[in-house]
Amino acid sequence: MPDDKKIIFSGIQPSGFVTLGNYLGALNNWTKLQHQYNCLYCIADLHTITVRQDPEKFRKAERELLMQYIAVGLDPELNIMYYQSHVPQHAELSWVLSCFTYMGELQRMTQFKEKSQKYSDNINSGLFMYPVLMAADILLYQTDLVPVGEDQRQHLELARDLAERFNKIYGDVFKIPEAYIGKVGARVMALQNPSKKMSKSDENRNNTIAIMDPPDVIMSKFKKAVTDSDNEVRYSVEEKPGVSNLLNIYCAVTGYTIEQAEKEFQGKGYGDFKKSVAEAVIANLEPVQKRFAELKNNKDYIESVIKNNTERASKLADRTLSKVYKKVGFMPRV
Ligand code: TRP
Repeated sequence: MPDDKKIIFSGIQPSGFVTLGNYLGALNNWTKLQHQYNCLYCIADLHTITVRQDPEKFRKAERELLMQYIAVGLDPELNIMYYQSHVPQHAELSWVLSCFTYMGELQRMTQFKEKSQKYSDNINSGLFMYPVLMAADILLYQTDLVPVGEDQRQHLELARDLAERFNKIYGDVFKIPEAYIGKVGARVMALQNPSKKMSKSDENRNNTIAIMDPPDVIMSKFKKAVTDSDNEVRYSVEEKPGVSNLLNIYCAVTGYTIEQAEKEFQGKGYGDFKKSVAEAVIANLEPVQKRFAELKNNKDYIESVIKNNTERASKLADRTLSKVYKKVGFMPRV
């Protein structure tokens, strides 16, 4: 990777499918970062097993996630995209960092509290250690910037604290990462409940569009989307959350402004409006779906991407981990 560019790191859990919300909110923007930054995208499978997974479904989600990333336009030569479990340095650094993390710090994590409630029959210590592993992910690569959503802010804060704590004892080992505040993508809400974000873990499938949903499924989900009763296509998040969500989606895929879109649908009913939104989304996703189908048939290519990117990640990770091992006083390897 070129040395003069800043490093962006993000981790994505392979739980479920990639939604239109992930695509318009994040992925689409990431494709614009690939020339300007050195970007690493880690498929965070070690994190995912903190919640019980079905092995076959999990493996399929992992396989398809990488292909979907490439299909949306993330170039596997410009970016480093790899599986966390293939680069053992993540787990190794995580152990070292855990010895510098206080129980109290982890007990305070809001996500841990929430997940302990949600999965009360399986409050395992991995769930507790999750933020330490995430800190290891970030710090291994001397990351400058981390694009994180609100829900991961506290974890990034911990990564910064751990880096500072370690550096204070051992000198400059870790770069102190910052949150990446880039151009924000569209905030896509659940189609049946536009007061909450579209989420891949939503049990109501009519709330979410997967970027790999076939055109007829996309059309039918949009047709069922919640609007309101006054049949006027106008943007107002407070008064018309459903319609506004559809307008946001429409503008994100067409590049129109809200005003242009409102004008286009003036005097037209919700039926026509929803159909147009669905058609625009279908057209936008068509080339992505086509590339995905090609990648699915090109196993050799995907395997070469995995091999090559794992090596690149591992080499970078080794630099940091060797330094850490030396600093804490481990015996050098012979
Ligand atoms: N915990 C993150 C999530 O669930 C995923 C993740 C793992 C991550 N490691 C990371 C995000 C490092 C940013 C940086 O969304």
